[in-house]
Amino acid sequence: MPCGDAAVAAAARLLKAGKLVALPTETVYGLAADASNPEAVRRIFEVKGRPQDNPLIVHIAALDMWEPLVRFLPERALRLAKAFWPGPLTVILPKSDNVPDVTTAGLDSVAVRMPDHACARAVIAACGLPLAAPSANLSGSPSPTSARHCLDDLSGKVPLILDGGPCAVGIESTVVSLVGAPVLLRPGAVTAGQLSEALGEQVALSEALTRPLAQGERPTSPGMKYRHYAPKAKVILVEGPLADYLKLLRRAPADAFGLVFFGEEQLAERPCVVYGAAHDPKSQARGLFAALRRLDELGARVVYARSPDPGDETMGIYNRMLRAAAFEVIVL
Ligand code: TXA
Ligand code: MG
Repeated sequence: MPCGDAAVAAAARLLKAGKLVALPTETVYGLAADASNPEAVRRIFEVKGRPQDNPLIVHIAALDMWEPLVRFLPERALRLAKAFWPGPLTVILPKSDNVPDVTTAGLDSVAVRMPDHACARAVIAACGLPLAAPSANLSGSPSPTSARHCLDDLSGKVPLILDGGPCAVGIESTVVSLVGAPVLLRPGAVTAGQLSEALGEQVALSEALTRPLAQGERPTSPGMKYRHYAPKAKVILVEGPLADYLKLLRRAPADAFGLVFFGEEQLAERPCVVYGAAHDPKSQARGLFAALRRLDELGARVVYARSPDPGDETMGIYNRMLRAAAFEVIVL
């Protein structure tokens, strides 16, 4: 349903009644429920097939909705909110007793963000509830960046999917923990450099960003242990110059696919899906998840994916691709 006044009112009614609603945000579509209603939140885990130990992000539409969710609001948190909200940043703080354990998967902390999408904000304002909302995909598949993707995953499982058009950012929010010294748990459109600048101190990078967890190791952010963003195909991330990539693709099995930048598909001797423009991280983030879903539709079994340039701005995209590739990388 397109996200007009009637749709917003219907969504608010459903959410107040403890039901789920899929709605657009600027990052990816979310599967929302009243964060303070344990039954409703439990239903999110059930519908997504999400592991019980993976906590949810709580979405707010105004700063005064934050205070009741946390034990206290430190100066650092307010600084980040001022610099980046509404926007693609999630901030983790020690939680208050108002937040049920199921929402935070039993953790002592709660992740909160204020999305920058008129539809999401309107729905939160209309129901007056903080909304727990993970990405609106089935657990394990790439996050949805259009209402169509939500329908593909959730058709018949949720009473309402709001259509707010394609997501402007395209990868999930940056997640930073302020439980102790600032730590970046998940990179996104708000970069580590921008966070450090706003805070006036260096933000540490969680180690789990760049390597798979060892067996039995406990992640700081439980979401990072799953093979996320994964199409059904085996993905191999390829770093290096275009000419070498094209040579590699030429030697690849006949049924291999390329995941490439605009224009490169014409040079490749294998079928390709395009995910963005070379050297344009914003377009890459916008196109990545749709491209991964497209590869599934095409029945791809092996995919050689062009890596974005390394850097602060591409860290979020690289991180998603690394996970889609289950950490299998070829450096040319
Ligand atoms: O952009 C986004 O953040 C989207 C939209 C819908 O807002 N939501 C999203 O939610 O990506 P989800 O559930 O797919 O990812 C939440 C991530 C997971 O990696 C989870 O482990 C982490 O945030 N997380 C949530 N609460 C946490 C906590 N208290 N401590 C550490 N990590 C937490
Ligand atoms: Mg997710």
